[in-house]
Amino acid sequence: MPSLQRIVMMSGNANRQLAERMAAHAKRRLADVTVSRFRDGETQVIINDDIRGADVFIVQPTSPPVNEHLMELLVMIDAARRASAGRITAVVPYYGYMRQEKKTEGREPISAKLVANLITVAGAHRLLTVDLTNAAIEGFFDIPVDHLSAMRHLAERINALRLQNVVLVAPDVGAVRRVERFRTYMREADVAVVFKDRPRPDEAVVSGIVGNVAGKTAVIVDDIVSTGGTLIAAAEALLANGAERVLAAVTHPVLAPGAAERLAAAPIEKIFITDTIAIGDVPPPFEMVSLAALLAEAVNRIHYGISLSELMSGSSPVV
Ligand code: R5P
Repeated sequence: MPSLQRIVMMSGNANRQLAERMAAHAKRRLADVTVSRFRDGETQVIINDDIRGADVFIVQPTSPPVNEHLMELLVMIDAARRASAGRITAVVPYYGYMRQEKKTEGREPISAKLVANLITVAGAHRLLTVDLTNAAIEGFFDIPVDHLSAMRHLAERINALRLQNVVLVAPDVGAVRRVERFRTYMREADVAVVFKDRPRPDEAVVSGIVGNVAGKTAVIVDDIVSTGGTLIAAAEALLANGAERVLAAVTHPVLAPGAAERLAAAPIEKIFITDTIAIGDVPPPFEMVSLAALLAEAVNRIHYGISLSELMSGSSPVV
């Protein structure tokens, strides 16, 4: 591959605000790209700037409407490849379909793998992403994957509240690792685990809690809030088991229709979310923690061949 002289950042329609924030941190402008629809609904992409030989970063979370945003990403990658980009990094802060990463019953797809194939075949050379539900998804790619985490940024915001007697709560068994990581950034906190069942898709029921939550301020840590069912069921169970207050810190605000309203009425004081997904105005109880500086720094390091590990290890200041 020839030496990559310059960074070009461009955005699809999924989260232009985040791409603009990233560009502002990097003191760059976004490339002039038109991403629209033909009258029949097909995706149309026109790259108006010369990107020949450039190190191209396409910012496009595959958030709802996931199929639209995924197709935009694929067509943008294809357009960049055919415009002779030197290298293409798909910056997908939220990786749609990531919850379909294994078969739980016979005759199910592994859609997270299919999406990995699509991104690779379209022509991406690298993937930059944030808080995959399961880190094993990295292995679905045969191109390098830089997998960042929002845990440190979210934990800093919880620390800033100077809460006493905190218990970090994994809202299901799959979240335990994430909570352990979150805890490394906290001054002091206990850990509890909620056992969640899903009697039907998109329904969450709590069957038990391990750990002492009585008299404590519970902070639920999760990767996704979609219907809100997981957070609400966990919050109710924590309060029923004696927790005094409940807050939450969640990376990706997928927020299915009706979720924001349900969460506003739920017994959760504050829900910290990040801007991996654009949700427009951020109403209470949500508070947004931007990852733009982190992602911009990652872009810079990828371009200059500098390790990204200290962005996640806690050895550098939060960016
Ligand atoms: C796995 O189940 C995830 O980590 C989340 O807990 C889940 O996706 C949240 O979904 P919902 O808000 O619909 O309960």
